[in-house]
Amino acid sequence: MDADIGVRGGKITSIGTNLGNAERTIDCKGLTVLPGMIDSQVHFREPGAVHKEDLDCGSRAAALGGITAFFEMPNTNPLTIDEPAFTDKLDRAKGRSWTDYAFYLGGSAANAERISELENMPGCCGVKIFMGASTGDLLSADDATIREILRHGKRVVAVHAEDNDRLDARKHLVEGGADVSAHPEWRDVEVCRRATERVLRLARETGRRVHVLHITTGEEMALLEQHKDIASVEATPQHLTFAAPECYAEIGTRAQMNPPIRDAGQRAALWNALVTGVVDIIGSDHAPHTLEEKARPYPESPSGMPGVQTLVPVMLNHVAEGRLTLQRLVDLCVYGPARVFRLATKGRIALGYDADFTLVDLKRSEIISDAWSASKSGWTPYDGMKVTGWPVGTIIRGHVVMQDGELLGGPVGLPVKFHETISPSSQTAI
Ligand code: DOR
Repeated sequence: MDADIGVRGGKITSIGTNLGNAERTIDCKGLTVLPGMIDSQVHFREPGAVHKEDLDCGSRAAALGGITAFFEMPNTNPLTIDEPAFTDKLDRAKGRSWTDYAFYLGGSAANAERISELENMPGCCGVKIFMGASTGDLLSADDATIREILRHGKRVVAVHAEDNDRLDARKHLVEGGADVSAHPEWRDVEVCRRATERVLRLARETGRRVHVLHITTGEEMALLEQHKDIASVEATPQHLTFAAPECYAEIGTRAQMNPPIRDAGQRAALWNALVTGVVDIIGSDHAPHTLEEKARPYPESPSGMPGVQTLVPVMLNHVAEGRLTLQRLVDLCVYGPARVFRLATKGRIALGYDADFTLVDLKRSEIISDAWSASKSGWTPYDGMKVTGWPVGTIIRGHVVMQDGELLGGPVGLPVKFHETISPSSQTAI
């Protein structure tokens, strides 16, 4: 719709026309005002690997890319699996994050019994488990451990679904050196299908809600479609954009991630699941490594690619090319996260909600480049790609954090609020 939006005290206070005078106005003529876009899967590497990324650079990249809040993963060092590690992350983000933020609690055999109390720490968006080994030491490979984690607590459990036994059994395919194009052969369709099937069975058995991350196969989508009542689904821009084997020929280990980029047939299956509603959320899985690390011979090269800054432009380009509607993109990056993670104050342009907005110019064409990347890693897998649709403003609780590609003000980020972590005493009396 065509309308003005009034903001006071960080909240949306009016929507309509003739709203009266304001201390400050922002002219959005010709632009589209979206509710603040949320990236619910990033790895910002702090503490433990701040040579790859940190909360300052990662959140700058987010704001420059039109993201208003990020949810950060627990495979840092130390792992975010107890109260001291979780509180340490909150302390590090305070006064340093350019966007709002939340952190996942890692679920493992070591903390399974304490998850019910740990998962409700303020600033916690949910629990994360790795069924297959990836970057870091967080691994819950067997059914007994996963079951134990799912039995404790109530918050959503985000799952990296790759079957570790099958990964181990097939490692010989690449061990000792191989071309990076063998990555999806080692970590094949069955690696993912089997893990997703297992976690769906365990979710059903325990009655626990799971959010299955970065789905890469039509086989999994067919399973997930049968379990919408208990499992939500994430897809990533990179799995929707790149295809094997070309991506490995063109950008080498920059395209290496877990689970892998697969062929064009699988990419088409992801798009089909996206337009038919099986996919709930698009997250970037921003997983930076330095170019020096990426230059190691495969398979010593680490898996993961940056993505928080490019999520919005890459997906807007898919909108421009007619693969999804703008409304569906907002559903995937705002309403989806609000629904799955139960956001208390974000996720809608409506009175009383946080004044979080992503301003986009749907007509503007730009070329994504390594030079634009604010991530400490300093590169993007989309280097050289021309896109149409560009984020030109990031507004967080009324603060203009990015305008026309410039960061403004300072790191105003605060922890995101979730329904479960708001104590009854902090709710306003009627
Ligand atoms: O490729 C990946 N890299 N996949 C993951 O699940 C982890 C991530 C990382 O942290 O580097």
